[in-house]
Amino acid sequence: MKPIGGYFSLELPMKEELHKNAIRLNTGRNCLEYILRARQYRKVYIPYYTCEVILEPFKKLGIQYEFYHVDVHLEIKDSPLLKEDEALLYVNYYGLKQRYVEKLAEKVGKCLIVDNTQAFYAKPIPGIDTFYTCRKFFGVPDGAYLYTDKFLDENFAIDQSFERMASLTKRIDIGAEAGYEDFQRLSKSLVGQPIRQMSTLTQRLMQSIDYKKVAEQRRANYLQLQAVLDKSNILCLPLESDAVPMVYPYMVPVSGLREKLIENKIFVARYWPNVLEWTTKEDMEFLLACQVQPLPIDQRYNEEDMNAICSLI
Ligand SMILES: Cc1ncc(COP(=O)(O)O)c(C=O)c1O
Repeated sequence: MKPIGGYFSLELPMKEELHKNAIRLNTGRNCLEYILRARQYRKVYIPYYTCEVILEPFKKLGIQYEFYHVDVHLEIKDSPLLKEDEALLYVNYYGLKQRYVEKLAEKVGKCLIVDNTQAFYAKPIPGIDTFYTCRKFFGVPDGAYLYTDKFLDENFAIDQSFERMASLTKRIDIGAEAGYEDFQRLSKSLVGQPIRQMSTLTQRLMQSIDYKKVAEQRRANYLQLQAVLDKSNILCLPLESDAVPMVYPYMVPVSGLREKLIENKIFVARYWPNVLEWTTKEDMEFLLACQVQPLPIDQRYNEEDMNAICSLI
């Protein structure tokens, strides 16, 4: 019998998830683990330019991986020739590489794995294993979506997220700096987690989002930064009409820009610190990790905020 009455839970609007037909899991890296286990790949080619947590499932399952380089368009420099039981993982960088993902899907076929962690709105391509993570686009602690047609015959436990809410609630209540340690703790707590189904709380939060509005705001903010900054940006990544970007990637050979932005409370991440260890100064990825400032363009911000970023730069 369903409980009726008594105290309330957190009040949230009830809409529809964007990826309502996907498999719901706890993290992006665990979507990758799911794919690796279901497909039983022996080896996967992965980019140097990615987040190190992607290695977790490889290490856990003892599956081989080999790095590949990308060029200034963030496209694969030398495409590996895939043998049987081998796959190619590509990151849809900043949510701006969907046309290239479509080309890759045609060329590589089923052995392509698309990491849409930075491209929450990119449509999955039928027959291509594709995963998304929630916390890079929305104020949720965890959660991921997976599209595949190869299923594991296992009943995964349902995750619980209520103890991972501190950074999200503190940022509202007492400010960005106050919740930063909790955010770091949250990131650490996602390391080494087994595959679980997305928590009911995260799913409920994902059901409360106005996806259309978020998309419009992100695109408007992106276009505003693009209009001002594109001429000095080394990267030239056009915004396709269906793209909803994660950030505006601004690449300039100016040292100290990141520090200056952060000093002025424009918090930019580094994609990704591990790349500086995996590559050398001669590699494109090293430059990307040094010189790309992923400027925030997300749904929390408006025209005035974008103006503030532009004038500071
Ligand atoms: C490119 C990329 N792929 C995969 C992941 C893993 O996502 P999750 O943290 O949900 O496991 C991340 C970030 O953590 C990422 O930046």
